[in-house]
Amino acid sequence: MAVREVLRMGEPVLLQKAAAVEAFNTPELHALIQDLEDTMKHMNGAGIAAPQIGVSQRVVIFGQKETDTAINPRYPDADAVPYTVLINPVLTPLGTAMEEGWEGCLSVPGMRGIVPRFQRLHYAGYDQFGNKIDRLVSGFHARVVQHECDHLDGILYPMRIADLKHFGFSDVFFPNQDFQDD
Ligand code: NI
Repeated sequence: MAVREVLRMGEPVLLQKAAAVEAFNTPELHALIQDLEDTMKHMNGAGIAAPQIGVSQRVVIFGQKETDTAINPRYPDADAVPYTVLINPVLTPLGTAMEEGWEGCLSVPGMRGIVPRFQRLHYAGYDQFGNKIDRLVSGFHARVVQHECDHLDGILYPMRIADLKHFGFSDVFFPNQDFQDD
């Protein structure tokens, strides 16, 4: 268990396509998930992808456990997203409807931007034990999944911003909010 350093935009590993996980329920995979969870909680992230701690594998985690009663201060208005470990994800947009929304990223500290994302999507993959995950989601849940899975293909959210006028510093856009770690 450890809080790991989160790599920031500019690190080459954040631009790489991550490798598929081939073995489930291994001590190495469980240790990776624990480090991701510890780091995400420490940074108040809505999610985190393995490449962000320098591990170029197709592993993301996101959401909050039901036992986490505190609302995430970085996304206070967000709908609850269940805590999810998602490995080797496959995303399939449902329809062409897009939705714009604010995003931040632990690898781009202190910044926010408006990013268009598919409003509804199907995602599939595996948890750390190799159990299949298969869900239809929309809204903020769909946004978080798209953001995290983009990390596995070397895509950071600023690359998705349609109009860079909507990219800037969190405390300038939202002067009355406390953004804590970023
Ligand atoms: Ni991110």
